[in-house]
Amino acid sequence: MSKRAVAAAALVGAMIIGLTACSSGSGSSDGKKSDGKLTIGFAQVGAESGWRTANTKSIQDAAKKAGVTLKFSDAQQKQENQIKAIRSFIQQKVDVIAFSPVVESGWDTVLKEAKAAHIPVILTDRAVDSKDESLYVTFLGSDFVEEGKKAGDWLVKEYASTSGEVNIVQLEGTTGSAPANDRKSGFADVVKGDPKFKVVASQTGDFTRAKGKEVMQAFLKSQPKIDVLYAHNDDMALGAIQAIEEAGKKPGTDIKIVSVDGVKDAFTAMSQGKINFDVECNPLLGDQLMELAKKVKAGESVPRRIQTEEGTFTPEQATAALPGRQY
Ligand code: AHR
Repeated sequence: MSKRAVAAAALVGAMIIGLTACSSGSGSSDGKKSDGKLTIGFAQVGAESGWRTANTKSIQDAAKKAGVTLKFSDAQQKQENQIKAIRSFIQQKVDVIAFSPVVESGWDTVLKEAKAAHIPVILTDRAVDSKDESLYVTFLGSDFVEEGKKAGDWLVKEYASTSGEVNIVQLEGTTGSAPANDRKSGFADVVKGDPKFKVVASQTGDFTRAKGKEVMQAFLKSQPKIDVLYAHNDDMALGAIQAIEEAGKKPGTDIKIVSVDGVKDAFTAMSQGKINFDVECNPLLGDQLMELAKKVKAGESVPRRIQTEEGTFTPEQATAALPGRQY
């Protein structure tokens, strides 16, 4: 074969390989992957708590089980990182974007960009305060106001026979986040019914153990009498327990503790009498999210709001549930 014939044969061969790659591989003319698999871009808040770690694992495991390609991003509790991640998912033309918004406000611009790119958005765990409801298809997660109310209801019952003042300190979640806003307002709605309940100090502990400990140390220094700690999540309560013990007091006895989440470490603390009541917030949203994303991608209608079912735990109930607790 002449040199020219060899070169021509090589060129034809290369063209055939190229065409094959286009029709069966991951690319297509509009840049969208064409392997038939659903691709979800998920922008997670971070890894601030045991709850969040369980939530991430649930989503990653569920994606694997459902054969979904998951593009996962950890925003390290920063809204600007989540916005960047969502923009990158739009550029990558994922099928569905899901995210758990670190704070409630400031999402309209990026959500409009997703809408303009025809990529449906699913809110998981936390809500946004956008007035334009067309910017997301559904919201899967807990009722945080209800969780705050459950904490308040416990307090009212616990102190039903007390006539003196009950001084409460509150460890708030991340400032501006839906669970911090709602758990605070739900609790306040209940306890405002009786003037003996006084929230004497309230500050953010950013949903982390370290910050919970630090803020509780400050509360212990500034407040002469603390009867109750209301923590917006278990990690802050667990950090606060360390601070209380280091101050020579007994958590659960000298200072009663009511918290939210229901993670294993908190159940262990409850079994030791250090937390008095825990309101459950379920992080295992993965399977429901995959199911929803598949439906949304297929053009099926889904409910606007899917609320997670949750309970509450006394120390006895937590101790009994501990061996089988998944997270
Ligand atoms: O949005 C859910 C809350 O966020 C959980 O209560 C908390 O632990 C997490 O960081």
